[in-house]
Amino acid sequence: MNNIKTIYLDNAATTKMEPDVIHRMKECFDVYYNPSSIYAGGEYAKNLISESRDHVARLINSDPEEIFFTSGGTEADNWAIISTYLSLKDRGNHVITSKVEHHAVLGTCKFMEKYLGADVTYLDVDKYGMIDLNKLEESVTERTILISIMSVNNEIGNIYPIKEMSAIAHKHNVLFHTDAVQATGHIPLDMNDELCNVDMMSVSAHKLGGPKGVGCLYIRSGLEMIPYIHGGMQERGLRASTENVLGIIGFGEAARIAKENMESRNKYIIGLRDYLQDRIIKSIPNVVVNGNIINRSVNNLSITFKGIRAESLLILLSDNGIYISTGSACNSSSNEASHVLRAIGLSDEDSSATIRFSLSHENTKEEIDYVIDVLIRSVEQLRRFSNEDND
Ligand SMILES: Cc1ncc(COP(=O)(O)O)c(C=O)c1O
Repeated sequence: MNNIKTIYLDNAATTKMEPDVIHRMKECFDVYYNPSSIYAGGEYAKNLISESRDHVARLINSDPEEIFFTSGGTEADNWAIISTYLSLKDRGNHVITSKVEHHAVLGTCKFMEKYLGADVTYLDVDKYGMIDLNKLEESVTERTILISIMSVNNEIGNIYPIKEMSAIAHKHNVLFHTDAVQATGHIPLDMNDELCNVDMMSVSAHKLGGPKGVGCLYIRSGLEMIPYIHGGMQERGLRASTENVLGIIGFGEAARIAKENMESRNKYIIGLRDYLQDRIIKSIPNVVVNGNIINRSVNNLSITFKGIRAESLLILLSDNGIYISTGSACNSSSNEASHVLRAIGLSDEDSSATIRFSLSHENTKEEIDYVIDVLIRSVEQLRRFSNEDND
């Protein structure tokens, strides 16, 4: 890596750790005791975990006892879906999800279809990426045991109506899980809201200013859950393995900071995101904003720059110190188009001309102005090359 100043606009991929998170983790770096040990050192580590659990619970307004630490969002998704399926499969084998979920959910569903006999409905979305709630309800059958729909989409930023969807699930005696990895710390989530019937919710620390390799599954109190990782009695016997004490401490601190600052940071980020969007639309021809621009996470902007290849644009941006990604889980070896962009009806060509900007409170207007300048030049250059190629 060279030494030019970088502008980071890829916060949906991961966030920079908050300085206070790093500080807190450094303070606790030498807490090596096993939290299961009964001597004072073990008790100390256990208390640190418990403090973090309180912070995470406060962020989503749940009871601390409803928080179960995991190795991240992927594990939480796998746990919620597979364990629910295994415990309820005698009642039914039908699971409903959507075509725009993260691979952590889609891959789990595919696994269950292939190896566990699950029957999975993948709901379509409209051209804005939204799910038709009537279709969701119509797809519930007598054998449906679980609906799993994300809270916020990682590529196009859509916010999904989890209250309404969880109400449909409960009306039919079906459990509701949401992958809230892109939502937690960014939009308010209230597990104590009586209109919010979420049974399980996946969270990841590294999307909200915390460290990687740690997250949690929220499990509504009273829900009988079976373990997914087997071994010791950690996490009240539901998630074995010696706790990632330092990671959990960082997660707790990140949750505390997110709770305190969410409102003011969101106001700031939305202004910056809308400024970026307006300037791109005004200064670059042939661009399309993807997703639902009304119900969208404040930091997300997915844009198709018609006629270019996103990978080439990302390289030019990176050469100028700007870090952005396509947002698609594009498999470079197969060059497969993003399943989310395909689901909203984009052609493969438009999909591969799409990039995702995801901002944070650390970005400034000066940075955005610089990004626009580089974008204008780069898009123009790439379109010129592609026209010359076609001549
Ligand atoms: C919506 C969504 N779900 C799940 C994950 C996986 O989370 P983790 O990286 O903590 O396993 C991600 C990460 O990109 C995500 O965006």
